[in-house]
Amino acid sequence: MRKVYNFSAGPAMVAEEVLQQAQAEMLDWQGTGMSIMEVSHRGSEFKQIVEQTEADLRELMNIPNNYQVLFLAGGATTQFAMVPLNLLGTQKKADYIDTGIWSQKAIAEAKRYGDVRVAAQLDESGKLLRIPSQSVWSLRDDAAYVHYTPNETIGGVEFHWIPQTGHVPLVADMSSTILSRPIDVSAFGIIYAGAQKNIGQAGITLVIIRDDLIQESLPGTPTLYKYQVQAENKSFYNTPPTYSWYIAGLTFAWIKRLGGLEALSQRNQRKAQKLYDAIDNSDGFYTNPVDPECRSWMNVPFNLKTDDLTALFLEDAKKAGLTNLKGHKLAGGVRASIYNAMPEEGVDALVEFMREFARKS
Ligand SMILES: Cc1ncc(COP(=O)(O)O)c(C=O)c1O
Repeated sequence: MRKVYNFSAGPAMVAEEVLQQAQAEMLDWQGTGMSIMEVSHRGSEFKQIVEQTEADLRELMNIPNNYQVLFLAGGATTQFAMVPLNLLGTQKKADYIDTGIWSQKAIAEAKRYGDVRVAAQLDESGKLLRIPSQSVWSLRDDAAYVHYTPNETIGGVEFHWIPQTGHVPLVADMSSTILSRPIDVSAFGIIYAGAQKNIGQAGITLVIIRDDLIQESLPGTPTLYKYQVQAENKSFYNTPPTYSWYIAGLTFAWIKRLGGLEALSQRNQRKAQKLYDAIDNSDGFYTNPVDPECRSWMNVPFNLKTDDLTALFLEDAKKAGLTNLKGHKLAGGVRASIYNAMPEEGVDALVEFMREFARKS
């Protein structure tokens, strides 16, 4: 048992079983006498990991055969550039949905390459933040793609529905929600996600891309940024982050043992509900700024009445073994990130601490 529950937004908790297996295999991976971090990415040992990891992910997410799975370096931020560089084509038009800070970073990067328009923005006009319904979005029929961020890690705003974009491919930055529940992969053109929340160790980025979107990139695109090159070389054009790949594989196997995404989905929803109930039943001691329909299951931000009280809350929580609860520097307040690897007991411990803190304050 570890001593703390770590509520970090990322790099975040990794399942204890995964860490224990990695520890057990650190010096000698399956009788080879070597750590997996010491072997060639092109050798037979690593090939087993590559094949099993992809097979497990395909099974977990039910990925159709006309999608490629790439394991790339550079974090989700690299995808902010790779998506426009590879998808804008000759029309050079793309529509983006802006629901918060991560959407805005993706938009700023894409604007460097083409005619990028914000088709809808988070509704901040009421008391609570809301994702506007698709009926008020202004999508262009001739856009090369529509990009959105299903879960805004900083704002704690999450889509609980998939936008319908017809013939225009839908691109999703799923960094902080991937593998939290079953999704219909066929509704997307590209899904990408950094690893450090629900996949494992930072350093590797998952890209699930429909075959027809692996196309000619814009002139001047660096070789490593071309999906075509990455797909042709099965993510091995250069040396990939092998140890992060290995940890991703252990994590996928762990999810399978837990019962897959349906089981995780129920657990995640229950965890989030416990926290939102604790906030909503606190007589205003804690507040969450998001409309209940778009509250995140993964990142739960909340505020206390004053900065002094927030500081005391964070200090006492840390003493109680509840760490990394400080909100993002752009948002302030408190944020509890409760990804797949956060056990339900961790959420129970936080809820109990919140009740006790409110009672004695
Ligand atoms: C939704 C989302 N997109 C993108 C990123 C950036 O990821 P990276 O730091 O791996 O580039 C993050 C990081 O937390 C994120 O939460």
